Amino acid sequence: MKTLLQIDASVRKTDNPVHKYNSISKSIAQSFIRSWMDRGIDTNIIQRDVGVNPPDFITNDWIAAVFTAEEVRTEEQKSLLALSDSLIDELVQADIIVISSPMYNYGMPAALKAWFDQIIRINKTFTFDLARGITP
Ligand SMILES: Cc1cc2nc3c(=O)[nH]c(=O)nc-3n(C[C@H](O)[C@H](O)[C@H](O)COP(=O)(O)O)c2cc1C
Repeated sequence: MKTLLQIDASVRKTDNPVHKYNSISKSIAQSFIRSWMDRGIDTNIIQRDVGVNPPDFITNDWIAAVFTAEEVRTEEQKSLLALSDSLIDELVQADIIVISSPMYNYGMPAALKAWFDQIIRINKTFTFDLARGITP
């Protein structure tokens, strides 16, 4: 069994009932996933539409919680990191990650950047060690 994590970032939907301005990037992701499923590989799909349901932006308190050792985090700090924990959990389960995104004003949508900010977490999804050296 494979797990495919689908992250969609357009604020538009694919089945707008009132107008025809549907998301192209989401259609492309759907088309890729249909082709993948046609190959007959047993696949569990986790869908996260960050365009329609944007993750929270990280905050001053969020960063303080991240840098607080897990064993001494307060209940408030744990709840501040709960969304990040769930998003990382989805990422860790994934064998395949499909990200569909429009370009908004020469960059990724803010909601997709918010997703990256939530999942790129020190000692969880990356580490750094000054002993490995720093670039001057
Ligand atoms: C607010 C906004 C800003 C955009 N900025 C850019 C841009 O900087 N460069 C570009 O090539 N396309 C830009 N586009 C076009 C979108 O990337 C394009 O319409 C894309 O298909 C939108 O994705 P969607 O169809 O999945 O909603 C912009 C569209 C919108 C609505």
